[in-house]
Amino acid sequence: MTDFTIRPLVHGEQRAAFEVLGRALHAPRPTDEDWERRAAGFPADRKFGAFAGERLIGTAGSFGTRLAVPGGKTPPAAAVDGVAVRADHTRRGVLTALMREQLRDCLRREEVFAYLHASEATIYGRFGYGVATRGKTLRVHKGRARFRDDAPSGGRVRLLEPDEAHELLPGLYERIAPYRTGMIDRPGVWWQWAHRRLVDRHHVAVHTGPGGDDGFVLYRPEERRTFEQPEAGAALVVGELHATGTGALTGLWRYLLSVDLVAEVRAPMRPLDEPIGLLLTDPRACEVVGLEDSGWLRLVDVPAALAARTYGDADPVVLEVTDPVLPENSGRYRISPGGVERVEDAPDLRLGLTELAMLYLGDRAPRLLAETGRIEVLRPEALPVANALFATGSVPFCGTQF
Ligand SMILES: CC(C)(COP(=O)(O)OP(=O)(O)OC[C@H]1O[C@@H](n2cnc3c(N)ncnc32)[C@H](O)[C@@H]1OP(=O)(O)O)[C@@H](O)C(=O)NCCC(=O)NCCS
Repeated sequence: MTDFTIRPLVHGEQRAAFEVLGRALHAPRPTDEDWERRAAGFPADRKFGAFAGERLIGTAGSFGTRLAVPGGKTPPAAAVDGVAVRADHTRRGVLTALMREQLRDCLRREEVFAYLHASEATIYGRFGYGVATRGKTLRVHKGRARFRDDAPSGGRVRLLEPDEAHELLPGLYERIAPYRTGMIDRPGVWWQWAHRRLVDRHHVAVHTGPGGDDGFVLYRPEERRTFEQPEAGAALVVGELHATGTGALTGLWRYLLSVDLVAEVRAPMRPLDEPIGLLLTDPRACEVVGLEDSGWLRLVDVPAALAARTYGDADPVVLEVTDPVLPENSGRYRISPGGVERVEDAPDLRLGLTELAMLYLGDRAPRLLAETGRIEVLRPEALPVANALFATGSVPFCGTQF
């Protein structure tokens, strides 16, 4: 028996949700001023609340976006955020009820995916989410980092004033972000959040190449120099960096590594194939110091999701998918380069929604998931075929915090 109910939040209830969220994430309690600044980026729209009587005890929100999938289509998706349950009501199924309601809501909105960043890796698998994009943390030692003679020279870099950054960044992202697989659209509500949390706290530099502005970076210095240790320079921490190609990427890294009084540049959540070490005479000047899961993906409408992406040139395979949360997705799908259809044929591979998400954008190969016991192989010859079908030839990347 449940002692709570789930319903959409109505206007006027956002602050209570904001407080539940802040408390669950151990943030300081918001003052009236904090809330005033935050309110516009925290609308009631698309938020669900769990109520024990009149009291809000849990919440989950989302905003509408589009997700780039292999082949270049960008089907509608829900970017899920603001998930929290009050500490005195956890482990009683509140999140489970919120997730179920939210996934149904996405289906009603005809959103093909739900996408989120997880505070802990043990929370969302049970709801059908799987890690679909990952990132690495780079640490580049400025004193040892020399660019090879054959590395792209890069163009011009200019710093934006804060007002300019607020005005220009949404358009720059739109134009520069290449919509590589795993990236999302950034609607106005995301920018309202980002302006305060990201843009106001970082320097913003734009790279201009032969064809115009083609990259930008947000970074902030972490000062470590003291009077006693004048040689300990600051670390520049990259908040985000987007570039249309290696020329602009190199130009931005050349710029970061040219800033004075800096000992190192630290860049979390970079694409797994970001090639900074290859540009340097001493590749070890660029260390990979972390590997993180980034976007957790949930295929909400499995037939639409499978039909939205392209496939490699290979024979068809039949996947049997089981979805305990949205059972209408359960079934057998024949995947081929020509398209996807629901069938009754004997399955070649059997898998859950989490594993489907892990291979969908190309982050993991079916072979690896089978070898680790996560995919059941019913016809062994089908496994290399599935590898070829799902291979994308590129590394997916999310690149947006939400
Ligand atoms: C994560 C959180 C929302 C879970 O809420 P909850 O209401 O306790 O979750 P539920 O009771 O519905 O849990 C469902 C299942 O998931 C498990 N689970 C939930 N949170 C878990 C966690 N953090 N680690 C491991 N297992 C977890 C529960 O044990 C339960 O398992 P069971 O079905 O086998 O009993 C809540 O703990 C919270 O607010 N945490 C702090 C804020 C946070 O991390 N939010 C997520 C931001 S991405």
